Amino acid sequence: MSGVRRQIHLAAHFPGVNNTTVWSDPASGSHIEFDSFVRLAQTAERAKFDFFFLAEGLSMREHAGRLHDLDVAGRPESLTLLAALAAVTERIGLMATLTTTYHEAYETALQLATLDHLSDGRAGWNLVTSSDALTGGNFRRGAYLPYADRYARGGDVLGAADAMWSSWQPHSPQTRPVILQAGDSDAGREFAAAHADGIFTRHGELAAGQAFFADVKGRLARYGREPDDLLVLPGATFVLADSDAEAQELAAIVRRQQVSGPTAIVFLEQLWNRDLSAYDPDGPLPDVDPIEGESTIAPGSIQARSFTGRRRQVADAWRERAAADGLSIRDLMVEMASRQSFVGSPQTVADAIDAHVQGDACEGFILIPHVTPGGLDAFADRVVPLLQERGSFRRDYAGTTLREHLGLRTGAPA
Ligand SMILES: Cc1cc2nc3c(=O)[nH]c(=O)nc-3n(C[C@H](O)[C@H](O)[C@H](O)COP(=O)(O)O)c2cc1C
Repeated sequence: MSGVRRQIHLAAHFPGVNNTTVWSDPASGSHIEFDSFVRLAQTAERAKFDFFFLAEGLSMREHAGRLHDLDVAGRPESLTLLAALAAVTERIGLMATLTTTYHEAYETALQLATLDHLSDGRAGWNLVTSSDALTGGNFRRGAYLPYADRYARGGDVLGAADAMWSSWQPHSPQTRPVILQAGDSDAGREFAAAHADGIFTRHGELAAGQAFFADVKGRLARYGREPDDLLVLPGATFVLADSDAEAQELAAIVRRQQVSGPTAIVFLEQLWNRDLSAYDPDGPLPDVDPIEGESTIAPGSIQARSFTGRRRQVADAWRERAAADGLSIRDLMVEMASRQSFVGSPQTVADAIDAHVQGDACEGFILIPHVTPGGLDAFADRVVPLLQERGSFRRDYAGTTLREHLGLRTGAPA
């Protein structure tokens, strides 16, 4: 570590397409009304965050032939929403997740350049290739691209967008909006190393983060790029309280709220790949075995697919764990599905976040609150000042564009 503290980058993820939101909390608000988005974006801007982030889900998720009950029907479309947020914020970056598998290059390039104009240089694009086969049905082509073709298409779309952005007169303030990539395969990491300004990842835990950080940074030289040209930004959740002990207690309550009985059964079915609705979530694990093979119960779920080929093996491990610790279905699913990244007093959380960044695990975090829209308030009021005091986080924005906030080079496409 050099004498200069590495600066932490922070973003606010408006929850969506997620299992984190605690809907039963009385403070839990709408995921559709504009006020909720304004509230979270303005809180993040008050705390001098780099950007406000929206995920994308272009179809409702299905599970066992029904709509997944954690999905929000009628969620606002990201670019329209961010354009409206540009008018009620001044400095914070505005990041939209957009899939290259379904969107077209020209519309995407034009929309992002428009957002960049409307926001005076605050537009960002989290480029994803999507994994949900069901989404294709909502588009004219109707088809889901085979996995092997998705990053090739991603490269074509981004290449075309780059050609348009750099040729247009007058170009938008950033010329090229900030590009993140969220995909974890070798191809995804290589795509990020070649083209992106940052990578959104699930590798947020310290040791796993350090390995991921070394991996992706190590890919940059091949493309004539420096380590600082690609920022590593894991998603992270947090639970804060006055003391560490209170925070641990609260975190356990939040985890149970995130995994209700019916949700526990849904998670279990993702592994078992069969209808388990007759089982009591407060009872023991099923004695029937999983159905091996591709997921038929949740064909769009990354999680469900990740078990393919090892369903029985994982089920046996889960049964052993449940028997050893006396866990019900719901207890076990709470353990498996719902770990918070940072739990503790503001000091503990600030120390841990800074340790990740100074310790080469990442450049910062995209924070996902479990209550919307007020779930970032305590972080903004109590953790951010501690990070500022130790010189790891800005006290005010130095520049005006998202590229400047992130310390990225301006201009030309990678
Ligand atoms: C942290 C993270 C966040 C993601 N968010 C989204 C999203 O909001 N919308 C989406 O369609 N896909 C999302 N994805 C999945 C991407 O579509 C990704 O391209 C897909 O997992 C296939 O790529 P891969 O095999 O390289 O991981 C996300 C992936 C990661 C790792």
